[in-house]
Amino acid sequence: MADVPWRPALPTDLTPIAEWVETPKALERWAGPGLSWPTDGPTLWQEIDGGGLPSFCLVSEREPIAFGQLVIKGERHYHLARVIVSPAHRRLGLGESLCRRLLTEARQRRAEHVTLNVFTDNRPAIDLYRRLGFVEQGAVDTRGIQPMQLRQFEDVDNKDP
Ligand SMILES: CC(C)(COP(=O)(O)OP(=O)(O)OC[C@H]1O[C@@H](n2cnc3c(N)ncnc32)[C@H](O)[C@@H]1OP(=O)(O)O)[C@@H](O)C(=O)NCCC(=O)NCCS
Repeated sequence: MADVPWRPALPTDLTPIAEWVETPKALERWAGPGLSWPTDGPTLWQEIDGGGLPSFCLVSEREPIAFGQLVIKGERHYHLARVIVSPAHRRLGLGESLCRRLLTEARQRRAEHVTLNVFTDNRPAIDLYRRLGFVEQGAVDTRGIQPMQLRQFEDVDNKDP
């Protein structure tokens, strides 16, 4: 999975990605609260600030198969956001590959502190983030969202299988 092509996301990528999300609950678990439902590519691109935030895809035959963003939270502090893998490509290591590349990207932007938020019942995501070195940071909020932070960078970008 180390060689899956990677590129900045395009507005048109969000049209297939919108189809990976089948329910409002799945949309919230992926992208957070407050987004429109039903949704579509142009709406999503606008609501998740695809043009403003560093946004990336893993691609196969030019089509997105995974997507994620970096949110700048403060000086040298980046937040991993909206990580998603196409349902047809899950459990193949793409989530890990995507996150490692996002972390490399954050490091190249001189990040020293990386955080993310995840629902406590999102087992696949929590397993993935723990494997990458994220640990729980503080209390779960009333919606069931657990903040996590990366313990340390430790060559995360050199561990692709
Ligand atoms: C979370 C997500 C990105 C993981 O992507 P992925 O490509 O399947 O992840 P990987 O293959 O790199 O690793 C997944 C690991 O998590 C666990 N996992 C993955 N899918 C799982 C499932 N359905 N049930 C239980 N554990 C699962 C396993 O540990 C798995 O490793 P294994 O297959 O070797 O056992 C993907 O499930 C997804 O897109 N979910 C919907 C969007 C979302 O919830 N994003 C996270 C927002 S915080």
